[in-house]
This record gives sequence, structure tokens and C-alpha cells, in this order.
Amino acid sequence: MELEDIVTGIKPYWKFDYEPNVKALRDLYEVAKKEQWNAATDIDWHLETDPATVGEIAGPGGDPLKDFDFIKNLPDDKRLELSKRRSCWTLSQMLHGEQGAMMACGQLVEVVPDMDGKLYASSQVIDEARHVEVFHRYIKRLDRVYPIMDNLKALLQAVLEADMWQKKCVGMQVIAESLAMGSFKMMKEGTDDEVLRQVVGLTAQDEARHVSFGLIYMKEELPKMTEEARDELEDFALAALKLLNDPEGQAKTAEPLFKIFGEVGIDLDVAMAELQEKFSDPVFVANQPNPFKQYVIPQLDRLGLITDRTAEDYRTMGLRN
Ligand SMILES: [Fe+2]
Ligand SMILES: [Fe+2]
Repeated sequence: MELEDIVTGIKPYWKFDYEPNVKALRDLYEVAKKEQWNAATDIDWHLETDPATVGEIAGPGGDPLKDFDFIKNLPDDKRLELSKRRSCWTLSQMLHGEQGAMMACGQLVEVVPDMDGKLYASSQVIDEARHVEVFHRYIKRLDRVYPIMDNLKALLQAVLEADMWQKKCVGMQVIAESLAMGSFKMMKEGTDDEVLRQVVGLTAQDEARHVSFGLIYMKEELPKMTEEARDELEDFALAALKLLNDPEGQAKTAEPLFKIFGEVGIDLDVAMAELQEKFSDPVFVANQPNPFKQYVIPQLDRLGLITDRTAEDYRTMGLRN
């Protein structure tokens, strides 16, 4: 895979007052130090993974294709092969997201204005390094690493290039981390593979702390910001959600999955016909779980980052009542 440049809008800050000033962040840093684990030795890597016990690893909304005939009608060996490849595609998105988180958090160390924020963010960099390590190692047990999907890449890029640390914090710690938390929770519940249960269980424990960091820090920071800066942050959060919900972007996301369908011998015309039929049924669409509505919107609401200025846009996207 190629190496890509990122143009950052970053301005690092020194902080020469080393006394604790945001107690909740200092406390979280203490928790982070206590809960460190070793990706190489704290997971039972010696256990074998039987792909049949892994189950379907889907995104934070669960598996939207679980009741589709073109999958149910496949012979067992093909269905297992499909499941393995789809799972690796999903896990690859997590892996790339972890790399994005590691880099974004490295930036937070430089740009946040408080020593407690810098100390805590430093602990998160090693957390994310562990996550990169475990997901890469696990994916190789099943299949291979697949490329990053466009809308995830665009979101991570926007976070890395953001010109305000508060945007990095909301984009990564609140939006991306909440989705990651939801995904790992579902994966742990949905798999019978002990190694994957350990991987996502330990990772989710870290991610919960990462979401807390975002919420604690932004709650502290928002009242100090000017109205103009708060509006800019609110617009950034909305733009991120629009990016992730863009129907064209989501259709593009399906392209690599179609490639996988073809590789395991699915008749693409049959698959397309069933997908079009089900996804054009408003009842089916309305019953699909919505991870953004479930995991992200409540956090943005909690921070007051959805106001009358943006509420209608969220309603239009079906993310708010
Ligand atoms: Fe992570
Ligand atoms: Fe994280």
C-alpha cells in the first residue's frame, strides 16, 4: 500500500505549568495507566481460530444482509468463504480507523492546551497502537487486509487536517470512537471465537475511556469557546455525519463487497435484484439499525452540539426525530 501525505492545520502548544488543572482528565490518565495491556501476551494467540465460529463480523449496525436469499442459498463452503472475506473487509476498516486514531491522538498531544489533556492523549496513542497491532494480527488469521473505504478515509482525513483541536477531539473522540465502541460491543456479543472475543473485549475497554476523554474535555472546553468557534465546531460535526451518511458514498462502499460476492461465485444480477427490492421497501429500510442515531447523536446532544441551526439537517438525514 502506498504512503500518503496529510496536510495538517496543526499548531503545537507548549504548556509550562505542570500542575494538574483538569482533575477529571488527570483521573482518567491514572485509569489509563492502570488498564494497560500487552497485545502480544494478554491475548491467547496460541488458540486456533475456526472460521466457522467467527460469525458474521459486521459494522456497528449489525449485518444488514443476514436474511438475504442470495446468501442463505449458497452452499455451506461458499457461505463460509463469503463470511470470512466480508468479516475481514469490516475488520480492515477497523484497522485503518485505528491507524487514523493513533495519528489523530498523536496530534492531540501537541495541540491540546492543558497538561492533563496532553498526558491523557499520550496514553491513548499507545492504546491505539495496540489496537493496530491486534486487528492486523487477527485479520491475517482469516484472510487479508482490504483497502480503506472512501467515506471513512475522508472522515479521518478531515480530522487529521482540521485547524482546531476541538474539531479533532469531536471528530475522533466523540464521533469515530462512539462508532468504534458500538462495533466492538456488537462483535463481542456476536462471535463464538475466543480470540476475537478477547481482542474486541480488551479494545472496547480502551475505547470506552477514549469516548469519556472526548466528552469530559469538550464539556470543559465548550463554555470557554466563542460563539463563532462553537458554531464552527457544530458545523464540523454535521459535515462529518453528512459525509458518513452520504448515499452516493455508501453506494461506493458497496463496490468492494460486490467484488467479494463475485469472487465466491454469487450471481451478481440475482444479488442486485434482491438488494434493490429490499432496500426500496421503506419498511425494511426503516427497520435497519442506525448506528449513527444510536451511538453518535446522543453524545452530540449531550454536548449541546446540535442546536436549532443544525437540527433540521439531522432530521433530513433521518438521524433525529
Ligand atoms: Fe482504538
Ligand atoms: Fe480509540
